[in-house]
Amino acid sequence: MSCAVSGCHQGAGAPQGLRLDATSSYAMLVGMAASQVASLNRVEPGDPDNSYLIQKLEGTATVGQRMPLNQAPLTATTISTIRQWITDGALDDRAPSPDPIRVTALSPDPDSNLTAAPTEVLASFDRELNTTSVDVNTFLLERSGGDGTFNDGNEVQITAASITTSGSPPMAAMFDLTSVTMDDDTYRVRLLGSGGTVVQDIDGNALDGEYSGAFPSGDGTAGGDFEVTFTLMTATSGATLDDIQASVFSPTCAGCHSGPTSNSLPAGMDLSSADASFAALVGVSSIQQAAILRVAAGDPDNSYLIQKIEGTAATGQRMPVGGPFLDQAVVDDIRQWISDGANR
Ligand code: HEC
Repeated sequence: MSCAVSGCHQGAGAPQGLRLDATSSYAMLVGMAASQVASLNRVEPGDPDNSYLIQKLEGTATVGQRMPLNQAPLTATTISTIRQWITDGALDDRAPSPDPIRVTALSPDPDSNLTAAPTEVLASFDRELNTTSVDVNTFLLERSGGDGTFNDGNEVQITAASITTSGSPPMAAMFDLTSVTMDDDTYRVRLLGSGGTVVQDIDGNALDGEYSGAFPSGDGTAGGDFEVTFTLMTATSGATLDDIQASVFSPTCAGCHSGPTSNSLPAGMDLSSADASFAALVGVSSIQQAAILRVAAGDPDNSYLIQKIEGTAATGQRMPVGGPFLDQAVVDDIRQWISDGANR
């Protein structure tokens, strides 16, 4: 207050290079030789009488003027406080300036591919949290809406069963997914560090959240959202159309269902290649039962193909005509392919 004022002991041009702002003072004083009287340290721990700082404040220094220059001397009380600090060893008892809080781990792992829905999202931090700052406004989970991309308006926000902090001191935050429906999709976890409502540490620092592929998060400056994704894919990857073509349609059906496409059966329903089968089956009405699709994606029971190979169709014979009929396991593979969306 009396020393690190404009034109005096602050900044690069400080007299004798002696800067006395809060960050610099300790290193500038303790155990550092005085530039005016090099045989004395500015502060000699344990020995105020031989500390040049005290001599300058008390006006007993042999060189230069009493400090603070051109101002009233410090009071005896203030000087004795400084003397006492030196007598006590001139310890650096400053509180360390806190670094902003960072994310040190996340479960599920960023960019992971899960085959089972997680029961929670758990974030760990490197400092104690302000527990009231972690809530539905600052700890968010959303899914992409099926397109794998975010910020395009079709995201679905996931509502947590609860959001809690844990540990003593609390350095973890949990987004509880108990009884929460998790559709197969890409999910994005967000812990906000920017804006009006942010995750804070116990000292009120905003989260240093930026994540670029490695923990801890952050760029060294408080602020910045933590954003990572993971993907949930629970559906067992069953047979593909190529598999079914190779194991069933080509060897067992294509002899009769040979193409080209027309309204006459069997040849007019072309099962001669995977591309032809896809075009002939998925979303295409049956000739025999025009109200029923040959393959209704997602709905094997209402797919005429299944009715024909299981022998439940109202018209004509069970396929393949004359048998032998397909094993139920093979039929189930085809059912699964339809359930999964009858994709090409
Ligand atoms: C020996 C010749 C033959 C074989 C082999 C054969 N089909 Fe057929 N398929 C037919 C005939 C003929 C019809 C029309 C008359 C009927 O349904 O009985 C038909 C009709 C169908 C229909 C109904 C089409 C519609 O639009 O209504 C489906 C579906 C079908 N077959 C699927 C298959 C599948 C799948 C296989 C192989 C697992 C197969 N078929 C093997 C001769 C055959």
